[in-house]
Amino acid sequence: MTTHAYRLTFLMLLPAIISVAQPVCLPVDLQCEYLKNPLGIDAMHPRLVWKLKDARKGAAQTAYQLVVGTDSQAVSRGAGNYWQTGKVNSASQLVAYHGKPLQPFTKYYYSVKVWDHSKQPSPSSTVNSFETGMMGMGNWKGEWISDSHDVTVKPAPYFRKAFTIKKKIKTARAYIAVAGLYELYFNGSKIGNHRLDPMYTRFDRRTLYLTHDVTPQLRSGKNAIGVLLGNGWYNHQSTAVWDFHKAPWRNRPAFCINVRITYEDGSIETISTDKDWKTSLSPVIFNSIYTGEHYDARLEQTGWSTPGFDDSKWNAVADRAAPSQNIVAQVLQPIRAVETIPAKAVRVFNDTNYVFDLGRNISGVSRITLKAPAGTVIRLKHAERLLPNGHADQSNIDVHYRPVGTDDPFATDIFITSGKGEESFTPRFNYKGFQYIEVTSSAPVALSKNNLTGYFLHSDVPPAGTVATSNPTINKIWQAANNSYLSNLFGYPTDCPQREKNGWTGDAHIASETGLYGFDAITIYEKWLADHQDEQRSNGVLPSIIPTGGWGYEWGNGPDWTSTIAIIPWNIYLFYGDTTLLSRCYNNIKLYVDNIDRQYTTGLTTWGLGDWVPVKSKTPVELTSSVYYYVDADILAKAAHLLGRTQDAEKYTALATKVRNAINGKYLNPDTGIYGNGVQTELSVPLCWGIVPDSLRSKVAANLAKRVQADNNHLDVGLLGTKAILNALSENGYADLAYTVAAQETLPSWGWWIVNGATTLYENWPIDAKSDISLNHIMFGEVGAWFYKSFGGIKPDAGEPGFKHILLQPYFVTGLNHAEVTHRSPYGTIVSSWKRVGKKIVYTAVIPAGSTATLILGDKKEDLVAGKYVFEIKN
Ligand code: BGC
Repeated sequence: MTTHAYRLTFLMLLPAIISVAQPVCLPVDLQCEYLKNPLGIDAMHPRLVWKLKDARKGAAQTAYQLVVGTDSQAVSRGAGNYWQTGKVNSASQLVAYHGKPLQPFTKYYYSVKVWDHSKQPSPSSTVNSFETGMMGMGNWKGEWISDSHDVTVKPAPYFRKAFTIKKKIKTARAYIAVAGLYELYFNGSKIGNHRLDPMYTRFDRRTLYLTHDVTPQLRSGKNAIGVLLGNGWYNHQSTAVWDFHKAPWRNRPAFCINVRITYEDGSIETISTDKDWKTSLSPVIFNSIYTGEHYDARLEQTGWSTPGFDDSKWNAVADRAAPSQNIVAQVLQPIRAVETIPAKAVRVFNDTNYVFDLGRNISGVSRITLKAPAGTVIRLKHAERLLPNGHADQSNIDVHYRPVGTDDPFATDIFITSGKGEESFTPRFNYKGFQYIEVTSSAPVALSKNNLTGYFLHSDVPPAGTVATSNPTINKIWQAANNSYLSNLFGYPTDCPQREKNGWTGDAHIASETGLYGFDAITIYEKWLADHQDEQRSNGVLPSIIPTGGWGYEWGNGPDWTSTIAIIPWNIYLFYGDTTLLSRCYNNIKLYVDNIDRQYTTGLTTWGLGDWVPVKSKTPVELTSSVYYYVDADILAKAAHLLGRTQDAEKYTALATKVRNAINGKYLNPDTGIYGNGVQTELSVPLCWGIVPDSLRSKVAANLAKRVQADNNHLDVGLLGTKAILNALSENGYADLAYTVAAQETLPSWGWWIVNGATTLYENWPIDAKSDISLNHIMFGEVGAWFYKSFGGIKPDAGEPGFKHILLQPYFVTGLNHAEVTHRSPYGTIVSSWKRVGKKIVYTAVIPAGSTATLILGDKKEDLVAGKYVFEIKN
């Protein structure tokens, strides 16, 4: 076994660094439901979290006191009319509200004060707020409306209503629930900077509404509200293999809005959707979330959302039933245009044909700005690759599209100019995955690279991690993993932003650690697990893509993919120390596991897709699927234990043991320490997921190391193997070998993509593969998480989750001279960083206030309290 020869003869703590102490402890970064000052929440017991600003050694909280009330002044003085916890002796920095019942439409202020590790009180935090929304279906007023067109009509509808305000406004909120997508305007201005709201759900089971503060947009006198509705996933007009055009919920987009105005005199008026609204078709003459958007600027109606607009030619609206009886608040980080990317280059073929290059692959939209005669038809074809002749190549991404004609070209926007000077177009109800944009024009236009800009759109989750090492390829792989993770986060995790935009379950659980180390993504996962609950059949079965219009219950939905139901709540528990999602999903996990147990009584299951897109060797589906079945049973047993369900804990511990024994009984040769034929996935999946008996771990690991060496220190895995291989090596004494594999730059490797210019992760190892070659897939993305776990060695401890207790086990791998890794946990930023200085390693760790850590180096362990440490380690 090639262990590291750490000689920890000299382990030094440099106290000087610790003495840069802050005199006081202060609670900071308060959040409610993991958002800052959220508006429009429905939770009866919203979760409040905070961090401690306290750089002293051993900083920790010994007690807290929360104050919640409707009067901000009183709250700032420590008095709350809804909840005063008094001093609670607890280190918890995550507390669910349990005061007087919260009322709808109400702003609550809150602050927290803590007692530090020497039991001294801190000052109170700044006052933060959360505001409740509808809190139930009964509070909606008015009706759902649409226009009278059917699902086949292409142009997107406008809606408007003018009204007069006579009194002085104190506050105004717009609550808007939509089946489809929307843009909301008040008096000519678009409200907010979100894109593609509301997020995609199974519309007939759960419909989301948003709350906007529209106080600044309203004025005394005449006002107007304008709404533009897009199809989104609700009215899928494009045709592809997943049959979204046949979704049971499909209908013409519809909405319900309540504009609730509170006047200075305390009275309240609600303007809502009803028969008084009017509708007209808009210049958005076609929109498909899947393919593109077509816009005819000649059809613009100037001032359509302003009060003075003449709507006498507009039509009456049609009443509609609400799409579901479950209209709930959208409480998550919204999609935004997070980065603006100017075109890097343009190739001019002639004055009607240009190809723009953004220089990197993104998910999002492009914006073209130009001057052309009225009626000029500009086509913007988006692609990830170019043909040898320099034109856009969509052959790797349009493969599942089944167009019925030629008027809905794939990943293509069509802009018809008004001819009124310089004009711009950006699609509102579509996004794409692309690097190149081929522009063709029906008439000559003069374009330079300044005429086109890309916008990277994704759920705007705050970054929570960094990785920087002495190896530029590793740094680029990390960056590419982040880019692909974000490109596949649109209120639900997707497989790829160009070809499918499907919520493929397998890809998402594989990528969840990469996501959670790098981003504060809890709000998206909580929403997506609610989507799982909407989709789960009463027999426990989940579809392979979530949400779905019905496709995926028959294909690809074995435990290797749909274990999302257990793995994601468990990872949220590990990363946030919050049991809410685990407890919400508990019965779903149980239904799910019971179903597999009923169908596969031996403990082995053949249900699944297996090691998808492998390099060369195949692993039996039964082996990998049974391992995921074990993982689910094991998580269920642990969850039962945590939630105090003792009988279940025993039952599912026994089931997990049965599955594990069945796997080992059939696949493990105890004499040789080899599973199956001993290929990389066969050895690494059981090692990584705790299947291998302790007595045989080192033997199996040694076999894996030999196998990898025989494979020329390169990968021979698919989707399930990539999740396991690096961890299986580094956790079992072969961190150097794992690094060698991770840092390869020849086929097959992540680095192979990078040295060939990738800025995202790919779907297949050979860059010229004939199929399965999306250039923006997250399914091989575990490598991003592994950097945090290996060079940083930052790992959560299931016993004290949320990084309350941190396991710090950095590997100073041969080949790297330094690595700096950080992760912002619920307690603050953890730093784990090292560099080689001569023959020594200087290792720096920062443990945030409220956390403790165990530093593990070889067979040495060192317990650390909060603070900053510098160690010198002799190799
Ligand atoms: C997707 C994958 C997915 C797979 C399942 C593909 O089309 O892009 O990422 O997991 O299908 O078979």
